[in-house]
Amino acid sequence: MKLQLKAVTFASAIVATPIWAAGWTLESDRSHLAYGTIKKNAVGEVNSFTSLSGHVTQEGVAEIEIDLSSVETNIEIRNERVIEFVFRQAPTARLTAEFDMAKVAGLAVGETTTLDAASVLSLAGTEVEFDAEMFVARLSETSVLVSTNDMVFLSTEDAGVNAGVDKLMELASLPGITRTVPITARLIFHTDEEQAATASEATEVVAAAAVQGDATAGKKVFRKCSACHKLKEGRHGVGPSLHGILGAKAGQAEGFKYSTALESSDIVWTHETLSAFLTDPKGYLQGNRMQFRGLKKDKDIVNLLAYLQEEG
Ligand code: HEC
Repeated sequence: MKLQLKAVTFASAIVATPIWAAGWTLESDRSHLAYGTIKKNAVGEVNSFTSLSGHVTQEGVAEIEIDLSSVETNIEIRNERVIEFVFRQAPTARLTAEFDMAKVAGLAVGETTTLDAASVLSLAGTEVEFDAEMFVARLSETSVLVSTNDMVFLSTEDAGVNAGVDKLMELASLPGITRTVPITARLIFHTDEEQAATASEATEVVAAAAVQGDATAGKKVFRKCSACHKLKEGRHGVGPSLHGILGAKAGQAEGFKYSTALESSDIVWTHETLSAFLTDPKGYLQGNRMQFRGLKKDKDIVNLLAYLQEEG
């Protein structure tokens, strides 16, 4: 999948544990996944799944498991046939969706947004990739609603279920069943209070830095750093890449050899710790190897932080 990795990394950089840490789970009872079929070119029917489970991974990917045996077509014999011929007895299908987590993380309670989710449906060994526009609403500190904004259409051929649909037609003596299936989903995720509180606090700290600072001015300040630091992920020079540095734990950029002082510190780079470090690098953390005297003007630091938040 080619995805908005930059955005995802940004969101996970806001706090040491990402906003969408593993603590976000799908509420099966309040979630709903359905698809439509049209037979004989005339009769529309809705089928749904009554058992879903899922969570959001550390990387910010929503993973939903669909219990295929829970399919509800409203006719018992048809449920059995769908399970046998279309789903070919596969126990579950998996839906993964990756989206711009920064957008979700920044939502205040009561706010809504739409975003594109790069999604993959895996069913009985076949994977179908599709983009879905999702509507997201922050219901409370601890819950988020994600639903399809429009219908998503899946081709039965791409999903590898054409033969199964042929079989259903034959069994039910139907002249036709459409080969494009509209899908809608309503997913509600929740987390516990504690995690939500940490997440929103950290978002506020970073947001405050952004409001105060001027990123354009900060870009100029960054010239003092750019001889040694790049913002591109994984691009190390004399100093480590500063990609996603706000919110990251110190000394963790992959592929860079840090001093023991930095690597073994338990600093998390927030607005406060970065300000203190950049004012007096040697004084703040003894034994670090950054050959830089420090920034003397508070204003430079605030602007630099705004720039790092926007571009880093
Ligand atoms: C002369 C080179 C040099 C300059 C200039 C420089 N740094 Fe560094 N920086 C380093 C090195 C080397 C390290 C790693 C130090 C260590 O391992 O002890 C480092 C480490 C850091 C870290 C910790 C990174 C991490 O992954 O924990 C931050 C943050 C940082 N620098 C920010 C800045 C900023 C912002 C500027 C400009 C205002 C700047 N540095 C200027 C060389 C430099």
